Amino acid sequence: MKHAWSPDSWRGKPIQQQPEYPDAAHLARVETKLASLPPLVFAGEARELRRQFAEVTRGRAFLLQGGDCAESFAEFSAPKIRDTFKVLLQMAIVMTFAAGCPVVKVGRMAGQFAKPRSAGNETIDGISLPAYRGDIVNGIDFNAASRIPDPERLLEAYHQSTATLNLLRAFAQGGFADVHQVHKWNLDFIANSALTEKYSQLAGRLDETLAFMRACGLDDAPQLREASFFTAHEALLLNYEQAFVREDSLTGDWYDCSAHMLWIGDRTRQLDGAHVEFLRGVNNPIGVKVGPSMDPEELLRLIALLNPDNDPGRLNLIVRMGANKVGEHLPRLIQAVESEGWRVLWSSDPMHGNTIKASSGYKTRDFAQVLSEVRDFFQVHKAEGTHAGGIHIEMTGQNVTECIGGARPITEAGLSDRYHTHCDPRLNADQSLELAFMIAETLKQARR
Ligand code: PEP
Ligand code: CO
Repeated sequence: MKHAWSPDSWRGKPIQQQPEYPDAAHLARVETKLASLPPLVFAGEARELRRQFAEVTRGRAFLLQGGDCAESFAEFSAPKIRDTFKVLLQMAIVMTFAAGCPVVKVGRMAGQFAKPRSAGNETIDGISLPAYRGDIVNGIDFNAASRIPDPERLLEAYHQSTATLNLLRAFAQGGFADVHQVHKWNLDFIANSALTEKYSQLAGRLDETLAFMRACGLDDAPQLREASFFTAHEALLLNYEQAFVREDSLTGDWYDCSAHMLWIGDRTRQLDGAHVEFLRGVNNPIGVKVGPSMDPEELLRLIALLNPDNDPGRLNLIVRMGANKVGEHLPRLIQAVESEGWRVLWSSDPMHGNTIKASSGYKTRDFAQVLSEVRDFFQVHKAEGTHAGGIHIEMTGQNVTECIGGARPITEAGLSDRYHTHCDPRLNADQSLELAFMIAETLKQARR
């Protein structure tokens, strides 16, 4: 029998990847404070995202999820938020216009701070210190003081998230995301790239279409003037997430109001673990990362725990196998899910299975491998007769050199030019656009 869920029932379960705070009383004070603060999102918005997820699951839309690997306190500014939002808008319009497919837009933004780590410690020149776990936990500088987990950082992350979300809402609804502004979403620093050229041509055709619609008296639909945009992050620090659990006054259901969508990472998806316990009880749309170690039996049990009602808008399986591994692992996972009739939203994270170390020591990803994993993901779904529903990527609107390759290739030697990420390497605007055009082409073919 299903046991009772409560916002703190996860505390009785084994838990992975949590920081060890030296001062428990300080942490408890901060948790109480957080729980008294206004939530970031409203339950009705999370329900709207579930409705949109269900459209994706049914094959009628595509999910675009992207943003930083880890948001940072130091790199927090309006231009940074604006430029990432611009690239997401560009990607979405490319897919919507070139492929005729509605795009559900979700940022890894306004709360994506905590990072799971493969090793608890980091060792440099014989000195071993606790690993950096994201600005919400400790500092990235490699010294003992900075690596001590500090509860005050939870509050700073909350305040940064509220300011970020406030600006995102303003951009989405205040005219910036109006499709008539499609030319203005281009970023200056990629002015001379082949991708910008391709984008400008598409924007030109869109202009003509809008002019035609205006001539017919059809161009004042609110959908053209505003974008719907949602936020998501990995629900890693469960004490932080618990502080934002609210009972929705309209339905009486529980929601985690720290973001519209939350996901469980590949390292914390144990069936009997705290993260699965926590997320099974909140009514947001949720995701689970599915890495190469997932077996079909385990996946079926996970789905039964997280989506017992088989609601098509509830569960996003975020597949992150690594290029060359999708064909080996994904078909039997899809077959198992299909054979039991579970309705899930399948998306591809082509980043986390493709992280490599360059000879210079930088963590990087080869853009060719990223494209290859996405292509394989589409091919497997085509062969299985299921819907390749979306992508989940680490990207930024900043002019970074973190992933090698792309149409304006970044070389291994060039990585050091503008390598700014606080965790994993991100696609830059050029690479993100190239990926969007490839996906648009694939979606268009699928529709024919
Ligand atoms: C991430 O999305 O940043 C991440 C850590 O992913 P995963 O859990 O798939 O490794
Ligand atoms: Co990452």
